[in-house]
Amino acid sequence: MKIGILTSGGDCPGLNAVIRGAVIKGDSIYGHEFLGIKDGFKGLVLDKISKLPRKQVRGLAKQGGTILGTSRIGPFEHGGSERVKEVMAKHGMDAVIAIGGEGTLTVARMLHEDGIPIVGVPKTIDNDLSATDYTFGFDTAVSIATESIDRLRTTAESHHRCMVVEVMGRHVGWIALHAGLASGAHAVLIPEVPVTIEQIAGWVKATVTRGRAPVVCVAEGFTLKGDQDVVAKGGVDGMGRPRLGGIGEQLTPLIEELTGIETRCTTLGHLQRGGVPTAYDRVLATRFGIAAVDAVTKKKWGTMVALRGTDIQSVHLSDATHEVKSVPYARWEEAAILFG
Ligand code: F6P
Repeated sequence: MKIGILTSGGDCPGLNAVIRGAVIKGDSIYGHEFLGIKDGFKGLVLDKISKLPRKQVRGLAKQGGTILGTSRIGPFEHGGSERVKEVMAKHGMDAVIAIGGEGTLTVARMLHEDGIPIVGVPKTIDNDLSATDYTFGFDTAVSIATESIDRLRTTAESHHRCMVVEVMGRHVGWIALHAGLASGAHAVLIPEVPVTIEQIAGWVKATVTRGRAPVVCVAEGFTLKGDQDVVAKGGVDGMGRPRLGGIGEQLTPLIEELTGIETRCTTLGHLQRGGVPTAYDRVLATRFGIAAVDAVTKKKWGTMVALRGTDIQSVHLSDATHEVKSVPYARWEEAAILFG
């Protein structure tokens, strides 16, 4: 078979490990050939496609980013399914492996419904895809955020300051929850659980009373309970994110005003998506790549590979995209006993 691979949407540590896993298994066990599609679905419709031989994936497991490039542009802006079929026929491409998050997998489902042979691989640092227990990239993002908070804590202690650390997560708070727990943050603020500024100030003051420098870990999608104004002030961008200064920047003066404690803000942003994947993410991504090529070989069109417990399974793309996996209240409550 001749298989096209693309990476689409925001990048994520581990994308290259998926590509490597798929190409090595496909080449050595099944004798498949691979084509690299540039910049996601955009490259599929604009015909930016070239051979992806095994030698090109050598040593890729540890390399961040994606050798194929990525974009958020879908195929429907440039001719849609008919154009995809035309380009695939031109290259003799029998199937596509699409590696991406919710948007990418939704597009993959639509292409599948139009008769295109496609298999999905889930990726997101946010870990918000419902059909898989974990996505690669999440562990790396949590590790980076945890190390950053550990570092911020020492400078906070020296200056007797409060540190607000904003992490990614525009819909869900998985990164904030895990990094906050791992680093011992004194408050974890997530989109799923709005709290008031008075509650946050209470945790900050209680921490100071115990002689510690408070760390507040906030997910970018958090909003204050009963006060949407704090987000509305700067407006939101095309993806619904605060435009002028993120939520961390907006909370910082409010915390300082209510507690009288000097407060600084650090927004980690795309640092969380850059650089080498952790060992856990390399292993998961490699297993996903291998499983994706198995699924293609078995013609399991319209499915996505997923981690269930310790097994890699195939699930329908429609199951993968129908709901966001939020942090359950009980998980936040469990962490909340450590606040203040
Ligand atoms: O990959 C998901 C995510 O990291 C979100 O948490 C964040 O809001 C978004 O991507 C940032 O994307 P962009 O690359 O468009 O700035």
